[in-house]
Amino acid sequence: MAIEVKGHSGCAIDVVREGTDLFVYKSSRDASYLDRLCNQAVKQREAAAQAFKHIRVPAILDLRRTASEVSVKMEYVYSKNFIEFFEQADASQILSLSTALIDFIESEIAMSHVTVVPADVMTSKMESVAGRVAANAAINGDAEVAGIVARSRDLFAACGDMALPVGRCHGDLTFSNILFSGTNYYFIDFLDSFIEAPLMDIVKLRQDTAHGWSQLMYTKRFDSVRQRIVNDKIDAAIDSHFRKKYAWYARYYAPMQLMNFLRILQYAHDPRVISYLKLTIHKLLREETTN
Ligand SMILES: Nc1ncnc2c1ncn2[C@@H]1O[C@H](COP(=O)(O)OP(=O)(O)O)[C@@H](O)[C@H]1O
Ligand SMILES: [Mg+2]
Repeated sequence: MAIEVKGHSGCAIDVVREGTDLFVYKSSRDASYLDRLCNQAVKQREAAAQAFKHIRVPAILDLRRTASEVSVKMEYVYSKNFIEFFEQADASQILSLSTALIDFIESEIAMSHVTVVPADVMTSKMESVAGRVAANAAINGDAEVAGIVARSRDLFAACGDMALPVGRCHGDLTFSNILFSGTNYYFIDFLDSFIEAPLMDIVKLRQDTAHGWSQLMYTKRFDSVRQRIVNDKIDAAIDSHFRKKYAWYARYYAPMQLMNFLRILQYAHDPRVISYLKLTIHKLLREETTN
């Protein structure tokens, strides 16, 4: 029997029973997605080889590619999603999760090397965002979006070279890509990042903990006050840990988070998502100019 769960990428996720075991097949027939899914499986396989205490990665059991399809077979994880986990988690479970996430990022930092990312990496990314915004009919006539693009351009032009640890990252570490299984947390849906830096994983985590992105995307009902309280707790733990410890975090978190949200905005179509993104980006721009 096959059960189907839908993700956000358009990939098919099939849960299949083989004998007494369950497996997940993640597959795509979208020609523009085949490379990405292959890279994801390779990255997940490499990450699965590393032990990160309570952070686990489902084992990749098979990767098949034909001209028209990629199919990835992996271990099935009995789990809750982040909303279900946060609805029942007590303070000690939230503390354990925060600690596990921080330890994981620290392990990535330990495996990375401080590298100078030249200023033009960000300025050319900004130009590509501006081009995609101009090509997106849902936002290209929006004066507020035009203002956001203009101010962001100025900020990145002034940013300069950035020295930060580069080498490891999950690449899309939002709560929608974490499966909660008892005291273990399984990371799925790895992605190549335009800068393979642990900072990118902090940015993605705080996209949820500080800005509630995955909650916005969640379609079922939930207790938003409780989610906010839990997110605030995790956010404070992550932010204070890295801010105290690393000058590169204090300096580059804000511009990286700005770039992260601009890269979501460039493809946005849903009016509800666009208004959320405009509000969030305005907030980030205000913080950046008052710092
Ligand atoms: N190994 C797994 N075990 C159990 N459920 C999984 C597994 N992989 C994916 N899923 C389910 O499928 C959903 C979408 O998976 P994901 O890889 O994040 O797809 P997408 O690329 O579409 O975001 C997950 O949120 C989860 O519910
Ligand atoms: Mg996902």
